[in-house]
Amino acid sequence: MENMSFILFGATGDLARRKIFPALFNLYRNQKLPKAFSIIGIGKEELSNKQFQELVIDSLYEYSRHSVNDKAQKAEFVKSITYISLDITKETSYQKLLTLVKKVEREHNLQENRIFYLSVSPKLFNVITTNIKKSNLSNTSGWKRVIIEKPFGNDLKTAQQLNDIVQNAFQEDEIFRIDHYLGKPMVKNLLTFVSANPMLQPLWNKHMIANIQITANEEVGVGSRASYYEQAGAVRDMFQNHMLQLIMMTAVTMLDERNAIKLRAEKVQLMETIRVENQHDVVRGQYTKAPCIKGYKDELGVDSSSNIETFFAASLFIENPLWEGVPFFVRTGKRLNKKETKIVIEFKNVLNNHEKKTNSKPNLLTIHINPDYGISLQLNSKNPITGELETITMNFSSNDKDIPEAYEYLLADAIQGDLSYFTHWDEVELAWKSVQPIIENFHTNKIPLNFYQAGSNGPKEADDLVNKHGYKWW
Ligand code: BG6
Repeated sequence: MENMSFILFGATGDLARRKIFPALFNLYRNQKLPKAFSIIGIGKEELSNKQFQELVIDSLYEYSRHSVNDKAQKAEFVKSITYISLDITKETSYQKLLTLVKKVEREHNLQENRIFYLSVSPKLFNVITTNIKKSNLSNTSGWKRVIIEKPFGNDLKTAQQLNDIVQNAFQEDEIFRIDHYLGKPMVKNLLTFVSANPMLQPLWNKHMIANIQITANEEVGVGSRASYYEQAGAVRDMFQNHMLQLIMMTAVTMLDERNAIKLRAEKVQLMETIRVENQHDVVRGQYTKAPCIKGYKDELGVDSSSNIETFFAASLFIENPLWEGVPFFVRTGKRLNKKETKIVIEFKNVLNNHEKKTNSKPNLLTIHINPDYGISLQLNSKNPITGELETITMNFSSNDKDIPEAYEYLLADAIQGDLSYFTHWDEVELAWKSVQPIIENFHTNKIPLNFYQAGSNGPKEADDLVNKHGYKWW
């Protein structure tokens, strides 16, 4: 593995503390970082290196999955971190940063391989990438990469503008756009799961599959993120990125999972053929209060007349020969009855299509993404006592605490230069194109806002969406 400098903008922020440093530390523990590396943290706060390193150690104790008996390793790890306080809106700051980066590279005997991680508000992406280029920070004799957090734009136009800015400083194959759902262990397993099981391959198409249901429900509300969420809503926050990616990852058929170019090209082809039916096949909802739980409009920072959706459901079709006619139902929302991210594949129940109906239930393959990591298969079987047909479920699940977090996988990939599980601009642009009409219809109230009680299953209109196709949510 080539040595590198990891230059983190937003080093004192929440994401750095909760996800980025713990992930880097776990990679370090598992020898997945290069032998020589340095981390440069950039933040607003005036802190000495030592003070910052202590903050990082605290975050490792709080959030790293290795939290006991590794005191010495933590101390060793943070020695590679240098902190600099900078006003990143000022051009002169980038000269200071360049001087520091070069100094650290000399001291650690590093080649000029640089990863810039933008863990900051999207408002700052422009000024940072422009100045990285201007200051010559990106003019390296080694390689350079940039990792960008979501949201990538707020609509099609702002996403295009942002992309122009980023592509002015970095080539497409140097841009690692994070969608943390693509780093989730079970999502990374999807391609392998189908390609490594010959039994499944002939089933993965419109002839055998009746519908696919993707659920990403959350128990939490909007929390302290109202100012962001009021601009986003569930469509931008979850559907444009995570949910569409889950659809693509379920529908791709390539067997060689580590080919970033092929995988991303296949996802682009799928995105091109995806059809969201606006008026009738989209449901939006907002949570209302329940005993002891605030309604969305009462949350701190939310406008009391807010029309923002905290729930979104839709049915979509992929219009290609493999998937045409198979509904992909998606639903996601906040303040629902439980946290659950899963993909349910409902197979056609040909037995019940015959004249003589049986009691057989459809075969279901459920892929549990979060909080469980598991796979289950529902089959029909004869009860040995009653002789009746009943459903049985074969289950696999693991809650091994050593399963890496999404960020760990994604950072390892970015350090290795593997783009497979990062989104290509073409995917992002097409995703915005498909949600743009929905956003506009929400804006003009062409799609009504439904309400659901906090802690419930979501608006009943979401059930109608699936029922009208002759199915129910699993
Ligand atoms: C983020 C959204 O991208 O994903 C949040 O901005 C959401 O609103 C989160 O809560 C859900 O992620 P996970 O990994 O908890 O399912």
